[in-house]
Amino acid sequence: MDKSILLVDDEEGIRKVLSILLADMGYQVHTAATGVEALRTFEALRPPIVLTDIKMPEMDGIELLRKLKQISPDTEVIMITGHGDMDLAIKSVKYEATDFVTKPINDEVLEIALNRALERITMRQKLNEYTHNLEQLVRDKTRKLVEAERLAAIGQTVAGLSHAIKNITGGLKGGAFVLEKGIELSEQKYLLQGWEMIKGNVDKITNLSMDLLNYAKDIRPDFQACDPNQPLREVVDLMRPRAKEHGINLSTQFEKDASPCHFDPDLIHHSLLNLVTNALDACIDNPAKKEKKVTVRAIKRRGWGVEYQVEDTGCGMTAEVKKKIFQGFFSTKGTDGTGIGLMITKKIINEHKGEITAESKVGVGSTFVIRIPKGLKNNDAKIPKNKSQIPNKSQ
Ligand SMILES: Nc1ncnc2c1ncn2[C@@H]1O[C@H](COP(=O)(O)OP(=O)(O)OP(=O)(O)O)[C@@H](O)[C@H]1O
Ligand SMILES: [Mg+2]
Repeated sequence: MDKSILLVDDEEGIRKVLSILLADMGYQVHTAATGVEALRTFEALRPPIVLTDIKMPEMDGIELLRKLKQISPDTEVIMITGHGDMDLAIKSVKYEATDFVTKPINDEVLEIALNRALERITMRQKLNEYTHNLEQLVRDKTRKLVEAERLAAIGQTVAGLSHAIKNITGGLKGGAFVLEKGIELSEQKYLLQGWEMIKGNVDKITNLSMDLLNYAKDIRPDFQACDPNQPLREVVDLMRPRAKEHGINLSTQFEKDASPCHFDPDLIHHSLLNLVTNALDACIDNPAKKEKKVTVRAIKRRGWGVEYQVEDTGCGMTAEVKKKIFQGFFSTKGTDGTGIGLMITKKIINEHKGEITAESKVGVGSTFVIRIPKGLKNNDAKIPKNKSQIPNKSQ
């Protein structure tokens, strides 16, 4: 431990006596006769303890104390005071002097004051070490946790992706098998059936790779002033034939206030298409003999640009399923689903700084809600996305 001390006193006699005393106590003593000299020595040597007279010509002890504390708040400064200097002593404590000893200086009193200062220095060092170690520990733990989460997410993605690809290759193999049978038996029916299966699965793998490409790339929305009802109208028009085919009542509630909102119309179209496709799937999948209904709404909710709701009376989701739907490659639709729809939709909504939520009850139905904030603007630094990157699944 650094046991150097700076002794400041304008009286040479006192400097001499105290220097001997302090050296006897094991200190390496540096002396200064004025405040200015003391500051110079302090800057050069940075002793952990300063012992200074309070009354000195020009710069007094209080002034020196203030300056020292400005340079190095942790330095222990002990003031030497005369008998009548109580006011000054109190003032010096206010400026964070460690202690004060009165003249004539009693050896024991001085030693106690110095020991206290040393104790405080040791404590502070220990505290700094603990804090440093603690910070290091927190940093290490956080890094490990983030890494573990990242690995888990990659693991999940790879597992989901392999599953999706296995489904498609399964379909392709099945198609090839039926096609081979058709060739073997010269049976036109099998040939056609096998060919259709192969075509369907080629479409699926094309969609999957396009979706993956989009997901891996930065989706950069091109925010435009749009009629909030427009994407909803387009999606419902697109999906009406499918709804009709399965006896589903697909209805819309448009927002009366069609003043423009800012979003990327292609991306919002894509998101709504994913939600409506899922809603129709859920109705088709619902064995209950109740009315099959999908309602899509655009609403101008306070504080938001626009809110879209897609409500269905389909199969609904268990809490377990609901937890996983946005994580990607999660699907309950077997070979008919890849679990990409909601993953991409969430990414698009995130890029819009919006939110997407789902409410659901098994056997009753689900409602998906998308909220897009107000006043989205293109960041000049962003390159507008290539629109052909987003395939329209139903086309
Ligand atoms: N409206 C809904 N009702 C019930 N379940 C839903 C609904 N929407 C989504 N889900 C559940 O969330 C899962 C994930 O949906 P997502 O759209 O991501 O994938 P998918 O529809 O299975 O396949 P993909 O969209 O890639 O063709 C679905 O498989 C389904 O279990
Ligand atoms: Mg889907």
